[in-house]
Amino acid sequence: MKRIFAVTCLLTAVFAYYIYTPLPSTISEPWKLMLLDATFRSVMGLGNLVHSLGLIHHVRVLNFAVNQFELQGPRSSEAVRVRDTSFSGVQVRLFEPTQGEPGQLKRAVVYLHGGGWALGSARMRSYDFLCRRMAEELNAVIVSVDYRLAPDAHFPQQYDDALLAARHFLRPEVLARFSVDPDRVAVSGDSAGGNLAAAVAQQISVDSSASVRFKLQALIYPVLQALDFNTPSYQQNRDVPILYRPLMARFWLEYLDGDPSFVQPMLANNHSALDLTRAAPGREKLNWTRLLPPAFKRDYRPVAPARGTARIIEEVPALLDARAAPLLAEPEVLGRSPRAYVLTCEHDVLRDDGAMYARRLQEAGVPVTHDHYGDGFHGCMIFAFWPTYFSVGERTVAGYIRWLDQNL
Ligand SMILES: *[C@@H]1O[C@H](CO)[C@@H](O)[C@H](O)[C@H]1NC(C)=O
Ligand SMILES: *[C@@H]1O[C@H](CO)[C@@H](O)[C@H](O)[C@H]1NC(C)=O
Repeated sequence: MKRIFAVTCLLTAVFAYYIYTPLPSTISEPWKLMLLDATFRSVMGLGNLVHSLGLIHHVRVLNFAVNQFELQGPRSSEAVRVRDTSFSGVQVRLFEPTQGEPGQLKRAVVYLHGGGWALGSARMRSYDFLCRRMAEELNAVIVSVDYRLAPDAHFPQQYDDALLAARHFLRPEVLARFSVDPDRVAVSGDSAGGNLAAAVAQQISVDSSASVRFKLQALIYPVLQALDFNTPSYQQNRDVPILYRPLMARFWLEYLDGDPSFVQPMLANNHSALDLTRAAPGREKLNWTRLLPPAFKRDYRPVAPARGTARIIEEVPALLDARAAPLLAEPEVLGRSPRAYVLTCEHDVLRDDGAMYARRLQEAGVPVTHDHYGDGFHGCMIFAFWPTYFSVGERTVAGYIRWLDQNL
């Protein structure tokens, strides 16, 4: 009996040690986040182990876990008809509300899910729930795009898939088939999906052949640049789950098909060092000492090494491509982009990507609503559905849908 007690105590201690992560006191529901983070870290650790043994790419392990527990078929309800189909060869899940009078034109949203261009799916439970809820509450048609993922696909394939599906849907005859009002279509996405949404919105707004353009873009904690991994939010949140700094650099390198050994020099900003003239125009567009409000900048210092590693940008030129990093777009392109909603979270390395983009859009004359959640963390919006429910998840979803409802 004593021995069982001792073993139980030991296991509990080990478990608590594994779960426990010191978190900022202002974060939403810290214990739940620790549990979520421990689950993530376990799967990541397993992925890294089999990856280092040369067995399976670590992203496949993560995706396998996601597919086992998270994917669900296209189940329709009384209020929303759900089906999987393809738009110009790109897989999409469609959510069509059944309410409303026949022939009455509806609003629509093209949605791009997050997951570092490598994970997730429109068929994942959380994205299915989110899009279902949007279809129901907005009485809008939602097109959730299943673009191809790393490591099977690399830039520009994810972007091309997103653009292809969006262009297909925006064709007047397709919108007519779904009874969608061509003047009331938005593009939206979270995290890497926010990156794709911003890039697609830019491209379609400067495309002279497009007869229908997006009215709005709604970007949820988007990832928008890979030249500065030391913005104040990257510095401040380096130890905050669930999107750690090296993981973000790794997602970028996988998306852009760069050498994984570049993670460390990139975290030191060696790829955008002051002696690299090619990176200079990019550095200026994400100059956070100018673009961020004092409450975000605090006392953080820019990290700008005098000498860097030229090889990184030579081998990964897409680091400077605005289709991959929409924050690098020229002011003329930004000025033609649709009215924007940008959601950022305080406890997120990507907070400043979103804040800088909001500011640059405003400087280019685009009206922007910037919603900042002081207790939010990266990814919180998809944790608004059972079994991973966070109060900040529910508040971000409700605020986002409210903005769409009032502006679309
Ligand atoms: C960054 O570049 C400098 C100069 O080339 C080099 O000495 C340093 O080791 C690099 N840092 C990392 C983390 O690779
Ligand atoms: C960033 O902006 C500050 C203040 O406007 C300026 O002094 C600095 O030279 C700029 N840095 C870059 C890299 O453009």
